Amino acid sequence: MRLTVNGEQHDLHSPPLTSLLTALREELDITSPKAGCHQGGCGACTVLVDGEARRSCLLPLAAVDGAAITTLEGLGAADDLSNVQAAFDEHYAAQCGFCTSGFIMAATALIDRTPKASREEILAGLSGHVCRCTGYIKIVSAVEAAVGSPA
Ligand code: FES
Ligand code: FES
Repeated sequence: MRLTVNGEQHDLHSPPLTSLLTALREELDITSPKAGCHQGGCGACTVLVDGEARRSCLLPLAAVDGAAITTLEGLGAADDLSNVQAAFDEHYAAQCGFCTSGFIMAATALIDRTPKASREEILAGLSGHVCRCTGYIKIVSAVEAAVGSPA
């Protein structure tokens, strides 16, 4: 299987039914997508597949062969955060951080698709993402602040 991950091409050797989440974490050492529920229910593993937010725990490699994958590592760097990353930082939207990568990827896809997303659209776009630290108010405030700026 061949994937482009954060702009770099990789030939993967994991079996074709390996989840994208496992391949990213264990073959490519890209650890921002988190293994929460492994069942599509928490959003912690969310990455962009050809620009769309997808739950990488549910995607076998065979289903994404040839795709362009973006993870949190591909959005920005510590000294050059994306607007969504910067908004999360400014609004203290990460607590333990376990869910944060998934929320940021979902918010990035939402803002790319709906640059003037309303609060209702933000809530819908983030639905199904679970924060076990329950910091939802700060997370939604961060995404509202990022709306209107390129993600
Ligand atoms: S680990 Fe993929 S949705 Fe929970
Ligand atoms: S910040 Fe801890 S799970 Fe969300």
